[in-house]
Amino acid sequence: MIHTVTVNPALDLTYRVPGLTFDDTVRAQEVLRAPGGKGVNVSRVATRLGHPTVAMGFVGGRAGDEIEDLLRAEGVRTWFARHDAPTRTNAIVQDDAGRQLRISGPGPRIDADQVAALIDSLFELRAPAFLVLSGSLLPGVPSDLYARVARRAAEDGVASVVDADAELGAALEAGVALIKPNAYELGRLTGREVHDVASARDAADVARARGADVVVTSLGRNGALWSGPEGHWHATAPEVEVDSALGAGDALLAGVLAARADGASPADALALGVACGTATAMTPGTDLCRREDVDALRPQVRVTRLDA
Ligand SMILES: Nc1ncnc2c1ncn2[C@@H]1O[C@H](COP(=O)(O)OP(=O)(O)OP(=O)(O)O)[C@@H](O)[C@H]1O
Ligand SMILES: [Mg+2]
Repeated sequence: MIHTVTVNPALDLTYRVPGLTFDDTVRAQEVLRAPGGKGVNVSRVATRLGHPTVAMGFVGGRAGDEIEDLLRAEGVRTWFARHDAPTRTNAIVQDDAGRQLRISGPGPRIDADQVAALIDSLFELRAPAFLVLSGSLLPGVPSDLYARVARRAAEDGVASVVDADAELGAALEAGVALIKPNAYELGRLTGREVHDVASARDAADVARARGADVVVTSLGRNGALWSGPEGHWHATAPEVEVDSALGAGDALLAGVLAARADGASPADALALGVACGTATAMTPGTDLCRREDVDALRPQVRVTRLDA
């Protein structure tokens, strides 16, 4: 079981238009409505892999209701704490050439009582194998929220996983089971330059020394790296025609955690994760991976152990 926490989810409205023109009415051929947010993405991909998950976090207003409805319609269980202010709506305008104009709506402001209620609600359900804390926080939410949740999870024997940028440092010091930075995020976290597998490995070891048990570094088209107590593995990404890699990191994380929760080795978990990430890079726009693409790509992923 994987529980995900999305503090600031969104309702993504994608307008498909023939072209972008200003000062005139552009008629959309189609409007797609989808739940958005990094933790939400992890839960959606886990569900496509057939792995049980609960999407948790904050929602409010009609947009919040719709996010929950859309998730349930896909078979994702939800357990959101409610606030009065409406959840943000994002507008994505995509033309026939595939170019996107992305407008991210402002998130609601949350007060301290609501944050405390959220933290309590996260621990009401039976303990999961992994508790995923993913994405940016909201205005009013203390910057050490992930660190606080990670500490509480550790007390309950729950492995916490953090995929965030600015909040990563504080969470590390709290002791987390796994982090999933990309090359830039790992570079910022450790003050190292991360430009290839060898430099990613060195920087991941620095992050491990600071408190993360496992570091899974995603390297875009260069695949991903597992760094943990058992050693280091690199997985290559199959070459595919990339449409949009948005959400690829979230899909990678879902694959890795679903496999680990089912008892897979680090190498096998990394391979499934890379197949999910690459399958997501193939799909258009904000779409996540299709199960059939994951199954087709998985045998093409090559995993190498880096230390003897
Ligand atoms: N151009 C690409 N070709 C093949 N696979 C890719 C490509 N870009 C991304 N991937 C796959 O997706 C995984 C995650 O990618 P990436 O490192 O871009 O994550 P990220 O930056 O965290 O993305 P996001 O935060 O938008 O979800 C990679 O490990 C790889 O498997
Ligand atoms: Mg990412």
